[in-house]
Amino acid sequence: MAGAVAATMSLWHAHELRRIEMGWNDKDMTDTFTLVVNGRRETVAADGATPLLAVLRNSLDLKGSRHGCGLEQCGACMVLVDGAPAYSCTLAVEAAAGKQVTTIEGLGTPDAPHPIQAAFLELQAGQCGYCLSGMMIEAKALLDTNPSPSRPDIVAALDKHLCRCGAHLRIIKAVERAAELLRQGPATTVKGA
Ligand code: FES
Ligand code: FES
Repeated sequence: MAGAVAATMSLWHAHELRRIEMGWNDKDMTDTFTLVVNGRRETVAADGATPLLAVLRNSLDLKGSRHGCGLEQCGACMVLVDGAPAYSCTLAVEAAAGKQVTTIEGLGTPDAPHPIQAAFLELQAGQCGYCLSGMMIEAKALLDTNPSPSRPDIVAALDKHLCRCGAHLRIIKAVERAAELLRQGPATTVKGA
């Protein structure tokens, strides 16, 4: 029985992944929604139930947010909506309309990384990188409200994020380093960034 359930979930997951990767919005595009994404006002045509993740990736070409499980179980799709972490794999675009959405692309650039990105680079916190945009978005939400988190604070904040490469310890250390960089201010010289 458990095997049948697992097989069904696996098929469903593959189907959802294909819909997101290939374009959920190939259905009726009868509605338009306006969101502010990384400070830019964007109007998109989509079915209202379309996951925000599909809109970000397929309509706005922001590929940094990842599809992992589609079930609020891995955190790879995490974005900020009005400053709070939100699973973009399950949040309907109509629920995000009129709100401020921040993705990993809104944090920094390769030439001018955000201190969180710089800390992850400095500590080489990650392996394949699939989980990292969600991890860094979560770190941003944490450090915006708690500039000096303890290690248990960081572990608790990242608890909903999975890393299949097992880079958790370096990721936690990178968040600690990011907090240090942010407390030091913009004049900080960042090693490896
Ligand atoms: S893809 Fe959204 S939580 Fe896994
Ligand atoms: S670095 Fe590979 S999943 Fe986290």
